Amino acid sequence: MKVLILPDAQAAVARAADIIATTIAKKPDAVLGLATGGTMLPLYEVLAQRHREEGLSFAQTTSFNLDEYIGLTPDHPCSYHHYMRDAFFRHIDVDPSRTHLPKGDAADPRAASDAYEALIAEAGGIDLQLLGIGQNGHIGFNEPTASLGSRTRIKTLTESTRRANQKYFASFEETPRYAITTGVATILDSRKCLLLATGSAKAHAVAKMIEGPLAAICPASALQLHARATIVLDQEAAAALAFTDYYETVHPQGQASAFD
Ligand code: PGA
Repeated sequence: MKVLILPDAQAAVARAADIIATTIAKKPDAVLGLATGGTMLPLYEVLAQRHREEGLSFAQTTSFNLDEYIGLTPDHPCSYHHYMRDAFFRHIDVDPSRTHLPKGDAADPRAASDAYEALIAEAGGIDLQLLGIGQNGHIGFNEPTASLGSRTRIKTLTESTRRANQKYFASFEETPRYAITTGVATILDSRKCLLLATGSAKAHAVAKMIEGPLAAICPASALQLHARATIVLDQEAAAALAFTDYYETVHPQGQASAFD
């Protein structure tokens, strides 16, 4: 794992944007795995700004989002379809027909999950998977105890995830109970992973992910198995790590190492 610790959230977001821009510069038709959540909003803003001001182009990219709530139509204001259009896609030059999210409103969510997993494989797999982390250590909606061998499927959300996401809905009762999420094994199949975490609320989960045992109780710890996983943190999200001196020796201020 590459652990990059940046001085603050703004610097962490800029570093994550650099990694995405470099991936697209090397492979303009990259397949991107995208994520939602509050952490990603400033990242999508920076990427859209680089599109406007620096010509960063997504025209040839394909994207697959990690997850979608079951029961919400793409037009529902709290759906991830809506989030992605509003926060990112409408600000860049991506071809909407090449942006994919699980179909949360499918009549048969099981079949829709299998079809989504197959579509990722048909696209040649994911080049760069962007990830956030839940306070409970989830990646995508792979909640604690999710199988580390899981593929795209239906997951029941934990109460803590529903409480964290309640702010986007009218009430806790209206916050969805189920989602379609790509699996931990789907995520591990990506050629590279990039996890961005900012803020002190993530410090505990980040420490378990990087320095805890590999365990389904913290699905993000599965990234310990990935040969090319980069974790971008601000100081607050890094606060509970024990080996900070080492990470800062390898990547001073979160910048490239001597051998990158
Ligand atoms: P957040 O969500 O960015 O809104 O904290 C991250 C996640 O749950 O993966």
